[in-house]
Amino acid sequence: MTMYNLNNNNNLQEIGKYFIETFGCQMNVADSELVAGMLQECGYSETEDLDQADILFMNTCAIREKAEETVHNRLDSIQHLKKRNPQMLIGVLGCMAQNLKDNLLETKPFVDIILGPDSYRRIPGIIKSRNGQNGHEVDTRLSKFEVYEDLLPSRHEGVNAWVSISRGCDKFCTFCIVPFTRGRERSRSFESIIDEVKDAVSNGFTEITLLGQNVNSFRTENGKFPHLLKQVAGVSGVKRIRYMSPHPQDMDEHLLQVMCDHENICNYIHLPLQAGSDRILKRMNRTYSQNEFLELVDTIRRYMPDCSISTDIIVGFPGETNAEFEETLEVMNRVVFDRSFMFKYSSRPGTKAAEYTDQIDEVIKQERLERLIALQQSHTLKANQRHIGKVLKVMVEKESKKSPTQWTGRTEGNMGVIFDKNGEHLKDIVDILIQNAQGVSLFGNRVLDKELVDEIN
Ligand code: SAH
Ligand code: SF4
Ligand code: F3S
Repeated sequence: MTMYNLNNNNNLQEIGKYFIETFGCQMNVADSELVAGMLQECGYSETEDLDQADILFMNTCAIREKAEETVHNRLDSIQHLKKRNPQMLIGVLGCMAQNLKDNLLETKPFVDIILGPDSYRRIPGIIKSRNGQNGHEVDTRLSKFEVYEDLLPSRHEGVNAWVSISRGCDKFCTFCIVPFTRGRERSRSFESIIDEVKDAVSNGFTEITLLGQNVNSFRTENGKFPHLLKQVAGVSGVKRIRYMSPHPQDMDEHLLQVMCDHENICNYIHLPLQAGSDRILKRMNRTYSQNEFLELVDTIRRYMPDCSISTDIIVGFPGETNAEFEETLEVMNRVVFDRSFMFKYSSRPGTKAAEYTDQIDEVIKQERLERLIALQQSHTLKANQRHIGKVLKVMVEKESKKSPTQWTGRTEGNMGVIFDKNGEHLKDIVDILIQNAQGVSLFGNRVLDKELVDEIN
């Protein structure tokens, strides 16, 4: 669909189309939505056809070497578009822009603009002053203040709206590039966050996921993360709230109490463990011990016995011995995470851990990763099977890919559930009796009688 912009004479004027491809984490997804909002303000409309695009942005990730390789390959594969349409504006945004600007300028001269995560306000100006001329624009300065407070994102239709509440990270885990690519941690104001939540609800979104690299270290003069969560829970029309990713160090009982007090805050916590051994945790600068992590899990379960917990784990961090790796498995066995995102350590130039001389052999990393994945698969199945025979609250999200007579929805713990249609609407929250668990999906049937729900649970 072509979009037109009204100019001063009220004549319709076609401006152009944009295509944004997003790599990396949800922060990048949220940032791409901000950029899309700005491009639409400039009169551009979205296209899903690369060949139609006048503006092509890649919002990139630098977290692991593989993520960077993917973007390099993708950029090589779009180079021909520029030959066909020399007017096309190609931009690299995000964490790789920040990290690899010199390399990109040298190896990918067809890239016109390179903007780091704090420079997106420059986009409208660059487009306006460009006038069809191509020249390189590079801005990867990081800001201590930029939170894009007054900008509204343009979201694709759906159930969940990502709302970024803080930017940057000050934790400096020794393996991680994020503090370098995204700069110092800063929080948005309560007011602008609540306004954005209200706007998302008025646009039909029923689930809000609050985002920050360390979402729970959010703080402003008006309060900390638990206060914010409470306020978001009070916005009318918000059926579900999630948040990502909290740091174990900043979890407190006030936060858990707020979660218990509000039915629309999901009983779900993504709690990155990274490693099980105290020596490795210390070398990673994670600031908690194995015991403190396990105690935190116990506390979470004391407040919310059926809380789903997922995690991130890295294997093969420099110097990790077999015995230390076994400690990670031991913690997994103690906790039984619902899900894990598991990674082989990837050395990131510029980080402290990249300088450690005792890097682990790739073959060993691969072996450890495979053992981790196998263990997690059995835990995910176990965690899912514990739901069989129980009634869970499921939000209807879309028609099942397998059959037009079935819905796919998600539990509070973010598990997919497939069930027969029975007069529900999209975004309804319904009671589903779980009857089966296979792989990563649950299967069940709707329970219409509320009394029966109480009886079963
Ligand atoms: N701020 C979030 C993490 C963002 S990065 C947090 O602290 O939880 C997401 C995950 O990528 C991390 O949790 C970590 O497990 C993984 N990761 C980060 N740097 C990595 C590296 N150099 N090699 C492998 N995995 C890494
Ligand atoms: Fe990276 Fe650690 Fe910050 Fe997470 S807390 S973004 S892993 S430095
Ligand atoms: Fe990647 Fe940047 Fe996110 S490095 S994981 S896109 S913060």
